[in-house]
Amino acid sequence: MADVKKSKIKIVAIVGSLRKDSLNRQLALKAGELISDRADFEILDYADVPMMNEDIEFPAPAAVARVREKIKSADGVWFFTPEYNHFFPGVLKNLIDWLSRPVSDDEGNVLERVPAAISGISLGMGGTGIAQDHLVTLISFLNMDVMNSPRLTIPNAMKLIDESGKLSLGGSYPFLEKQANAFVEFVSERARRNK
Ligand code: FNR
Repeated sequence: MADVKKSKIKIVAIVGSLRKDSLNRQLALKAGELISDRADFEILDYADVPMMNEDIEFPAPAAVARVREKIKSADGVWFFTPEYNHFFPGVLKNLIDWLSRPVSDDEGNVLERVPAAISGISLGMGGTGIAQDHLVTLISFLNMDVMNSPRLTIPNAMKLIDESGKLSLGGSYPFLEKQANAFVEFVSERARRNK
């Protein structure tokens, strides 16, 4: 009998906040739950990646080598980013700068052609929209395969958290669901094409 088991796609989530109780991290966890039947979902741990400095680029620091391998193993990358001063945080730019560097003479950067989605939640009224626009510019320059629509922006996060900082999405939940389904389809379609 033919093997009817379908393998799951692998999604690596990159959260642009290192904060323990980060709202964007909580959002990522909810997204992971939503697609757990169709995808292996892992939040990238990159707090130990050093500041980019070409003096230490070769050989790659262990933390950099590790995050590169994680990205290489992914079918898609899903960014969950806060907005800092109408931009995405420096920790995320630093990580992407490391990932953007060619691994060797014959290999390009590990982000090239990788399907990408973007979501974000913030306290302000813009819901990270301006930060997301900047992130799209950067990852498009690096030739990621960006799912431009739907994107998810969640504003006014104070209304969605309890006294302990726990996030409940309320009316935004269906929008996360819609984006999650779209991204699973976007990634799966590319994975089928590349087989
Ligand atoms: C912010 N915050 C913020 N919010 C926003 O909507 N627009 C903005 O431009 C900024 N700017 C900004 C700058 C800096 C340096 C900090 C630390 C914060 C507030 C931000 O939305 C809030 O701290 C979020 O909770 C951060 O996301 P995480 O860490 O909860 O994921």
